[in-house]
Amino acid sequence: MEKRFKRTTVTSALPYANGPVHIGHLAGVYIPADIYVRYLRLKKEDVLFIGGSDEHGVPITIRARKEGVTPQDVVDRYHALIKRSFEEFGISFDIYSRTTSPIHHRLAADFFRKLYDKGEFIEKTSMQYYDEEAGQFLADRYITGECPYCHAEGAYGDQCEKCGSSLSPTELINPKSAISGSQPVMRETKHWYLPLDKHEPWLRRWILEEHKEWRPNVYGQCKSWLDMGLQPRAVSRDLDWGIPVPVEGAEGKVLYVWFDAPIGYISNTKELLPDDWEKWWKDPETRLVHFIGKDNIVFHCIVFPAMLKAEGSYILPDNVPANEFLNLEGDKLSTSHNWAIWLHEYLQDFPGKQDVLRYVLTANAPETKDNDFTWKDFQARNNNELVAVYGNFVNRALQLTKKYFDGTVPQMGELTEYDRGILQEFAGVKGEVEKLLDLFKFRDAQKEAMNLARIGNKYLADTEPWKLAKTDMGRVATILNISLQLVANLAIAFEPFLPFSSGKLRGMLKIEKLSWDSLGRTDLLPAGHRLGEPALLFEKIADETIQAQLDKLLATKKANEAASYKAKPVKPTVTAETFSQIDIRVGTVLECAPVPKMKKLLAFKIADGLENRTIVSGIAQHYKPEELVGKQVLFIANLAPRQFKNGLVSEGMILSAEDVDGTVAVTSLLGQVKPGSEVK
Ligand code: 2FM
Ligand code: ZN
Repeated sequence: MEKRFKRTTVTSALPYANGPVHIGHLAGVYIPADIYVRYLRLKKEDVLFIGGSDEHGVPITIRARKEGVTPQDVVDRYHALIKRSFEEFGISFDIYSRTTSPIHHRLAADFFRKLYDKGEFIEKTSMQYYDEEAGQFLADRYITGECPYCHAEGAYGDQCEKCGSSLSPTELINPKSAISGSQPVMRETKHWYLPLDKHEPWLRRWILEEHKEWRPNVYGQCKSWLDMGLQPRAVSRDLDWGIPVPVEGAEGKVLYVWFDAPIGYISNTKELLPDDWEKWWKDPETRLVHFIGKDNIVFHCIVFPAMLKAEGSYILPDNVPANEFLNLEGDKLSTSHNWAIWLHEYLQDFPGKQDVLRYVLTANAPETKDNDFTWKDFQARNNNELVAVYGNFVNRALQLTKKYFDGTVPQMGELTEYDRGILQEFAGVKGEVEKLLDLFKFRDAQKEAMNLARIGNKYLADTEPWKLAKTDMGRVATILNISLQLVANLAIAFEPFLPFSSGKLRGMLKIEKLSWDSLGRTDLLPAGHRLGEPALLFEKIADETIQAQLDKLLATKKANEAASYKAKPVKPTVTAETFSQIDIRVGTVLECAPVPKMKKLLAFKIADGLENRTIVSGIAQHYKPEELVGKQVLFIANLAPRQFKNGLVSEGMILSAEDVDGTVAVTSLLGQVKPGSEVK
């Protein structure tokens, strides 16, 4: 941290309390923020970590309406669930509160009022859709209709989920209110706007010139917003869920959720430190850092700073290390499609393995581009890195000490040239990890920490103390002393990343938490210090466990496909006469066998009430031959014969149906009829 700062306020985006949190939230925002905060605390810096739930906004009211409960019920449920998930994963907030708290309502309303009184808003009337039956204006999400681009039904007033186009409600064809189903009418309404255009000159200077160090994705997104030219933004809405606009004549209007949510960072600080909160937000010697996902960049880099500047007494963010998105097995994470690994479900399936997920999500953190989480990679990183490198080194060092020195740290003797080289190598790790963490490069920093364990493993493999034990116990003592110092260093280096494992390791070493300053030291464990019982830090994850997770995702995928499945449009009409030209009959399968060298084919002998016939069908991947023998099937009896490369001739076609996922089902009858019976 640069010298001009005395303390750091760290915020992490307030998640909407309308669903549980998943790995995308953790990877994108909360783990990086937590690593950073833990690191600063270990360095004994003054830091405050603020979190909370974002409890306003239209989606919450939609969910409540769907479930027949109040919005408050919805946010109560999810706030509690989200808060617990964060606690369970060790996200070490100083406070995790919520935007329905009275303190927040008051502070956000006061904030608005101050800007209003200072003349920082403009008032504008515009025409908006109004539901006469329900007696209310309609938020964009509450209006559905036909998409003007792809003509799908059920597009929302802000977006068509079918083709992804951004829409405005007036573009929808045949708009309908999602509340009453009636056709909405246009009505005039008044709102308050933050004139971002007025703020553009200083925002340009502040971001584009004074914050060139921001991540390229953040800087780039800001630049493109600024280059497009900023427009006034409405900061109020016609809605009955939210913070009432504190102005006369604003009945039925609330603050726009994106106006009140970032103020939530401030109110949560105030809730925690009622008498001392201002220094964390107003002292120029405080450094403000926002951890967010890329969809929040404009709000944290442009809109919120403009609000803070307009208010006049607040500091502006010093950095906004936003991440890109995490995908799951190649597809975009989606709460509504249940395409996610929910944190509370992960812990049911992998109890006690919080650090494994923390590790894997950091190793794959979407810092510079979107990244993919796969269960195979999760398993590989656990088995090949946490178990085989970190856990293995720790276990070997502790077990050997137990075996040769009864679990007591042995005396360090004279160092060899090789020892010195190793010690030098690991002394360098501290600076490296620090440099990377200061730059918010968490994945590289964690990689460096893992290097420390690699150095340890290599040291043991090269020096082979178990061989020396017969001849040179003095040397064994030195090797194990060095190894144990390395292990103690690992507990420090991994503390920001894997806090649960560091705690466990400290228990095995019987030491208290050490500060970041101690990293790189070789006297952390004095000779004669008694260690605790060694236990495995990590355990292997079996193929079956991973397969069970993949099966779960596959089931979700199938359910989604079934839910969104729409059959192909029907082909042009044919006359009864045309249809009658096709001779469909019932046949009984007499024989069924694979076709040599043609993997997809099965050759059938079909009893057809005449002379029997051969039909070849491409369904070998879907049925075993014996499953079909004796069954009655439908086939086209007058299809022109078709000859295959190997000379086989197919005299007809067995009718089957293909599912969306490509699986095939052969048609059959509900009753028994004679082979050769016609199907009409
Ligand atoms: O995108 C979201 O999930 C928002 N609820 C984030 C809000 S961040 C802050 F401004 F509170
Ligand atoms: Zn569309």
